[in-house]
Amino acid sequence: MQILVLHGPNLNLLGEREESHYGAMRLSEINEQIVVCAKENGAEVTTFQSNSEGTLVDHIQQAKASGVDAIVINAAAYTHTSIAIRDALLAVKIPAVEVHLSNIYSRETFRHRSLLADIVIAQVSGFGPQSYILGLMGIMHHLKNTKN
Ligand code: DQA
Repeated sequence: MQILVLHGPNLNLLGEREESHYGAMRLSEINEQIVVCAKENGAEVTTFQSNSEGTLVDHIQQAKASGVDAIVINAAAYTHTSIAIRDALLAVKIPAVEVHLSNIYSRETFRHRSLLADIVIAQVSGFGPQSYILGLMGIMHHLKNTKN
């Protein structure tokens, strides 16, 4: 099982950015936890962060050719704005799970709308770094259950 974990804009600043919303853990530490969890469950994970919408779209497109089985994505602010990321996920038809560190529904109204929510398998929002782990576990479970 190959899983691609994508992190969107400003998530490279985790640990120093708005700790009350995003906690103190750095992105490198979150990635380490993701890799360990994947390994324990017999999956291989690639993690990637970009501040650029187009680069994230490129990675989603390339995932198809690379044989990625599932995508875990925290599109960060692009969650609320990016038709391009939505279209890329629809184009590759790779099952995806949307994750957020904070509970986007308990914050400003503009964060309540996700352009990805209705096209992903599930959304995990509000558990801090654990959202990634729960999303990863969920999508691995989904893949095992839908494998023919
Ligand atoms: C976020 C929530 C988004 O609204 C915000 O723009 C982010 C991070 C989260 O993980 O809680 O950058 O996706």
